[in-house]
Amino acid sequence: MSIYLDNSATSHPKPETVYRAVDHALREIGANPGRGGHRLALAAARLVYNVRESVASFFAVADPSRIIFTANATEAINLALFGLLVPGDRVVTTTMEHNAMVRPLAQLEMRGIEVVKVQADQQGYVDPDAIFAACAKPTRLVALSHCSNVSGTVQSIEKIGPWCRENGVTFLVDAAQSAGLIAIDVEQMAIDLLAVPGHKSLLGPPGTGFLYIHPDLQLQPLLFGGTGSNSTSKFPADTLPERFEVGTMNVAGIAGLGAAIEFLQQETLQKIFAHEDALMTSLRGTLSAIDRVSLYAPLSARHVGPLSFNIDGLDPAEVGFLLEKDHEICVRVGLHCAPEAHRSLGTFPQGTVRVSPGYFTTRNEIDILIEAIKSLAGNKQ
Ligand code: ALA
Repeated sequence: MSIYLDNSATSHPKPETVYRAVDHALREIGANPGRGGHRLALAAARLVYNVRESVASFFAVADPSRIIFTANATEAINLALFGLLVPGDRVVTTTMEHNAMVRPLAQLEMRGIEVVKVQADQQGYVDPDAIFAACAKPTRLVALSHCSNVSGTVQSIEKIGPWCRENGVTFLVDAAQSAGLIAIDVEQMAIDLLAVPGHKSLLGPPGTGFLYIHPDLQLQPLLFGGTGSNSTSKFPADTLPERFEVGTMNVAGIAGLGAAIEFLQQETLQKIFAHEDALMTSLRGTLSAIDRVSLYAPLSARHVGPLSFNIDGLDPAEVGFLLEKDHEICVRVGLHCAPEAHRSLGTFPQGTVRVSPGYFTTRNEIDILIEAIKSLAGNKQ
């Protein structure tokens, strides 16, 4: 039986109730929400509405219609960036971003949007003052990831958000690695745009995610198509969420996401965080004492989610291969779709071995990993 330590890519397993909710939605409801007046279409619409409400309340969003369901966080970030920015705008971001942010911004640069990247330190942390200084020229948007998918470094969004609001700068947070681990309150943190995947620490199915849009923002749609309403118009709806949710929705995935949020609420984020933090603290402490093992993580409270390391003289791909072959441990190796983050951490181009425990990871599994790494580090001359 494999030991799954790749929860930063997607969480596995899911709570039992998530599997059941997906099965129920597909088998017992099955219909297309908003595409018919019959009992099953209404049940599907009710289901989507209820999940939208629970997602909103989980992130302290007052108006659930500002939650736009997407296929993943990447689509949510694309909607935020392409929906907001126009030629001449200026964006401040960081050198720790995932390609989900880097690549859309590169496209936008080619359309006349200026992109400024604030340098992270070697532990992946970006000083909020450096962000504020980078906003000295008129800036439309500050866009950054809350938690790095490489180093697990958590940025100070609770400081950056309120500063942006006071200074009239829109604030976009990519919460791909933090949502479901760290409590996010869009009001307290003054977040204008929040991009979240449903399938990582939120524990929902792949193919789910959402973008929260602050009531003061008017975005252009990314996709155009049918919504089941106002069908005579050639133009997108003005109302949310219809303006942005076109085409048939992932009702089964959304049902699973709803069950996952219920699970998180029952377990509580405090308990989930405490479990993962205890595993990570022990892993970080033990690995940092092993000769030939280099850690790429902040050795502080600003670390959640994944842990990156390398073993001196061994290629990360080789370490990943041996961990699986000899110990049935599944990790991710290489650049993790975040080459700029690796440049900041000093691990470009070889990348790192990335271990990412989840809520269902046991202490015993971490102990097996530690022994496996010790033996790999010890065997290397
Ligand atoms: N962004 C995901 C990861 O870091 C897929 O693995």
